[in-house]
Amino acid sequence: MDIIISKEERIGSAATERENSDEMGRDRDLLSRFMSSSADLEFRDREAERKFLRDIIISFVLAGKDSTSTALTWFFWLIAAHPSCEREILKEISSAPASTTSEVKIFSYDELKSLHYLHAAVTESMRLFPPVPINSRLTVDEDVLPDGTRVGKRWFADYSAYAMGRSEKVWGPDCREFKPERWMGDGDGDGDGDHQNVRFRPSDQWKYPVFHSGPRMCLGKEMAYVQMKSVAAAVMAESEVLPAVDGGESARRMADPPYTLSWLLKMRGGLPDL
Ligand code: HEM
Repeated sequence: MDIIISKEERIGSAATERENSDEMGRDRDLLSRFMSSSADLEFRDREAERKFLRDIIISFVLAGKDSTSTALTWFFWLIAAHPSCEREILKEISSAPASTTSEVKIFSYDELKSLHYLHAAVTESMRLFPPVPINSRLTVDEDVLPDGTRVGKRWFADYSAYAMGRSEKVWGPDCREFKPERWMGDGDGDGDGDHQNVRFRPSDQWKYPVFHSGPRMCLGKEMAYVQMKSVAAAVMAESEVLPAVDGGESARRMADPPYTLSWLLKMRGGLPDL
């Protein structure tokens, strides 16, 4: 609330309409963007408007912080065990037209979009280790699912993105393997194997409910990819991901990864640091 009030004061102190919009435009943080896009909404009073903004920001921070970091933890764990994927990502990063400061490679939004293999690797890693492994709904009324299953009133109906990601029926016999290539297809999608323009090919959203599906799907999906890809690209451009960390290189480790289950599928003790 203090942050919202201090921002209001700064914007309010801009004397004219013109300065006011300059003030909004200067700040590109999430709060400024929500303040600017909710400016036309009607609220009971100032307090109600502040609470609305506070709740949006809190839900975005809660929904977006541990989910992306959990996804990145498993991503690096898998990359450490799959050197050929690491090489492929490094090849892609080094040919991407990033701007470089003296210290670090910085990828713009458009540059990140061109990193198709990295996109596939992050997506594949979340198929095996979805940050939100189980999700629930409480029914308001009786219903019958498309396959004929009856669901009673006020029952919990759960689905598991984790179980679906490892289901042979859904992903085929190699469902337990980390293979970013399964997400890559030829550019025009005609299946003629034209590898000139190989790019990320999304799956049906119902087959991959990592971000949930339908009308209440994750609102931060695009932002999550931007965050995860920029962190992964910046780290991998600078550092080698060593197999010495407890990577999933063996069938045994893949069969028994160091899980700890909370709302999120976290790694027990975090990713070992050398
Ligand atoms: C890898 C990262 C992420 C994963 C796996 C993920 C997954 C999900 C899932 C499964 C839901 C549905 C929850 C439910 O209705 O039960 C959800 C909702 C939501 N997510 Fe994400 N999320 C991620 C990142 C983010 C980020 C970065 C943001 C914001 C910047 C965000 C904002 C939201 C919001 C606002 C909702 C609620 C949407 C609604 O109820 O209409 N998420 N997310």
